[in-house]
Amino acid sequence: MDLKETIRTIPDYPKPGIMFRDVTTLLGQPRAFRQAIDELVQPYAGLGIDKVAGIEARGFILGGAAAHQLSAGFVPLRKKGKLPYKTITESYQLEYGVDEMEMHEDAIVKGDRVLLVDDLIATGGTAEAAIKLLRRAGAEIVAAAFVVDLPELGGADRIRALSCEVQALMA
Ligand code: PRP
Ligand code: ADE
Repeated sequence: MDLKETIRTIPDYPKPGIMFRDVTTLLGQPRAFRQAIDELVQPYAGLGIDKVAGIEARGFILGGAAAHQLSAGFVPLRKKGKLPYKTITESYQLEYGVDEMEMHEDAIVKGDRVLLVDDLIATGGTAEAAIKLLRRAGAEIVAAAFVVDLPELGGADRIRALSCEVQALMA
């Protein structure tokens, strides 16, 4: 199935000028969700992934399913103030605002092989903050995997410049 056809675009959400790629329409279709997870994890099966790190909020859905399929642990990377234990923090710029990302300070064991997962990469600011957090904690990031890349915003190139492999199922 062409997964691109399962994703809905909402103009001017959440701000004028943003073409919002709404993956809930992919997630709601059983075969599309299965195919997206299969394609996301296929390159990393058998590579000894210890943990999948998922970015709030849509990266939790995809990352949780990917972690289960890889028999890996799951690490939530959350918006500020949501995690109960001691955290490490990175701030970052979004296509439509500024935010801070947090991770529990003990979520990664030094040397853990980590697959970073999110639904979409736009400017790459969110993924860059995630990579910085994970590397500060001692993770070896095997790759960053996304369903959608918006290449005109340069995010994938920005992440490759950090010496991190990038995979996206569609542009
Ligand atoms: C979206 C998306 C990515 C991020 C990509 O999340 O799920 O995490 O933006 O943008 P970037 O590459 O320009 O940084 P959003 O911040 O809208 O949060 P949400 O998933 O909690 O809605
Ligand atoms: N995050 C940043 N830009 C986005 C977009 N255009 N659609 C969905 N999520 C996004």
